[in-house]
Order: sequence, then C-alpha cells, then structure tokens
Amino acid sequence: MLKSLDYVSQIKPYVPGKPISELERELGITGSIKLASNENPLGPSKKALRAIKNFLKNSSEVGRYPDGGGYYLKQALAERLSTSKILITIDNIILGNGSNELIDLAVRTYMSHGDEAIMANPSFVVYSMAVKSVGSKAIEVPLIDYKHDLKKMLDMVTDKTKIVFIANPNNPTGTINTKEEFRSFMKKLPMDILVIVDEAYIEYVESKDYPNTMKYLADGRNILILRTFSKAYGLAGLRIGYGISNADIITEINKIREPFNTNSLSQISAIEALKDKVHLKKSLKLVNEGKAYLYEELHKMNVRYIPSETNFIYILLESSSMEYYERLLKEGIIIRPVGPKEIRVTVGLKEENEKFIHAFYKIIHNKGDN
Ligand SMILES: Cc1ncc(COP(=O)(O)O)c(C=O)c1O
Repeated sequence: MLKSLDYVSQIKPYVPGKPISELERELGITGSIKLASNENPLGPSKKALRAIKNFLKNSSEVGRYPDGGGYYLKQALAERLSTSKILITIDNIILGNGSNELIDLAVRTYMSHGDEAIMANPSFVVYSMAVKSVGSKAIEVPLIDYKHDLKKMLDMVTDKTKIVFIANPNNPTGTINTKEEFRSFMKKLPMDILVIVDEAYIEYVESKDYPNTMKYLADGRNILILRTFSKAYGLAGLRIGYGISNADIITEINKIREPFNTNSLSQISAIEALKDKVHLKKSLKLVNEGKAYLYEELHKMNVRYIPSETNFIYILLESSSMEYYERLLKEGIIIRPVGPKEIRVTVGLKEENEKFIHAFYKIIHNKGDN
C-alpha cells in the first residue's frame, strides 16, 4: 500500500450509511425510513425546487461554470442577517459546499503541524478529522451535563491553540450553551484565537438563553459563525452552507477556497429557500410536534433522553446502542448509534416517528430493558 502521511493514516474515516435501496435489498424489506442524518423530512421549499427545474430547462446554463463568488446568495444572506445594530455585507460571508467544507477551509487557513484546536467530545466528528488532516492536534474536552464544558475548554488553552470549536446546539446531544456561559467564555479567551461557532441547527432553537454570536462579530472578535441550508431548509443533497465573519478572516479563507466550490443549483435554490418563510415555519412546526410526541412516548417507556433544541433527540439506553441499531435496521429504521449506549434519532414525519416508537417499544419489550 502506498504510505500516506503519518497523521493522515491515523485518522479514523467517517463511515457513511448505506443507501436505503441497498439496505432494503440486503434485508429483503421495503418502506424503510432514515432518521439518521438530521435532514428535513419535508425536503426543500417548492419554490427552491421550481428554481432548480427552471434552471435545468436551460442547457446552456448547465454548461457554464457557477458564479464562483455566489454574489446573489451572499447578497440575500447579507440582507437577511443585517440588523439595526450590525451591518453584514457580502464581504462578511463565505459560501461552502456544505458548512462542512468551511470547517476544513478554516482549519487549513489557520492551523498547521503541531498546532492545537479545542473541541468538545462528543461533538460533530468533522472538527477533529479536519484538525488531524493538517497534522494538528485535536484536544477533546468531555461534555458536562451533555453540553460543552466551556470552563474546562478554557483551561485547555495553550500557546499552541489556534481554534476553539463550539457546536451550539451540539450534535449529537442537541443541547445549547447559554448566553451567559458563552459571554463568560469569550471574556476569558485570548483575542488571537479563532472561535468557530457551528450553528447548523440555529433555526430550531427555541430557548431565550441562546447567545447572539453576531454581537461578538460586531465587537471585533475573531469569530466564524457557520450555518447551513442542509437542515431546516432541506437542501442537504445540494451541499450549501455559509460562514459569517469579519472581512479579514473571510478574505484569508477565500484564498484557499476552490474557485467554484458551490454549484449553480445550490446557489439558486438556497436563495429561494431563504425567501420561503412559510415552508420554514411548517418545517419547524413539524419538528416541534414530533419532538413532543417522541418525548411523551419515550417518557411512557421510561427511556431517558436529553431535551433537544434541534431536530434530533439523544436517547440514553440501558444497553448496547449497536444492538438497538441492528434491531431497528431489521424493522426498516435507520438511526445513528453515537456512543456505547446512546443513539441519535432525527425527528421525522408523523408516521415515521410512530414507526420508530412502535419498533423501539417492541425491542425494549423483548429485551426486558427499562
Ligand atoms: C453540527 C453540525 N455542523 C455541520 C454539519 C454539516 O452540515 P453541512 O451539510 O452544511 O455540511 C452538520 C451535519 O450533520 C452538523 O451536525
């Protein structure tokens, strides 16, 4: 085998789930459901789909490179994000092939061999993968009460620290760090460290204690806020996310961005998705109703879960998560095992949630758990 760089060979690869069709073929089942990747089960706005169809009718457009700068989408975002207190311009925004790409780009811009980044564990696995991919060290700090232990994370800061990652809300636990926790963290964090706040699930947050990170941008802090169209906006398949930061940071990250990193379809559909507030509202309502139902049913079964500010629920089991994963799979339900005894379940359509509860009940009953 051709030897890769030492620090690359040590990375544990991300394991993607199998396509549903393949799974059904293997198990000899039909009608299975995927509650594993926190997508919007309603998909995108019809307006976004219409824009895609119209675009595809024009073959010469398909044959052309996309707008590498993503001008119109950035302009739409800048308008949406600006408030009376903070003016966001297109110079404050960078688009990514999913927010995932922006994690990688930010790491490659600011980190190299021997540097350190601080992050929580468990949190979004891509942070540590990105950091390790440039030969830097991922310092992982265990969660406290299922959320980021910001005090401990501060304790881990050294001269080598270049980036601190905060997923707020956190994946896989669905928890948030509050305004006050974040404020006190930022007060003590050295100014020259980049804080990447990953707000992939911001649209779902209901808590009044959720921090307004844009305020820190206005205060001149080195902060990169990441958001995405993959979750509440239902565009995961087209890969489009964005970062908001000060113009200097955006300029630096842009230097290593591939010139045409976001495609035409993702850009036009994101613009339309952003406009369709009715669809967003409907999507959030579905999740809130789904969560209420799932909480109630889990409670009835005496199963512990962490109340979530997102579109997924972190469930604490009494026994092996892999066993639950396999058993649910046989019932045609794909969820994500995220710890030895923990699973993450995406809130789906009403009938999908019911199917999950039904299967879960059956498994628990047979196992004699809880
Ligand atoms: C916390 C978090 N950040 C980022 C992402 C990546 O989203 P995108 O599809 O925009 O790359 C995800 C997706 O699962 C996520 O959970």
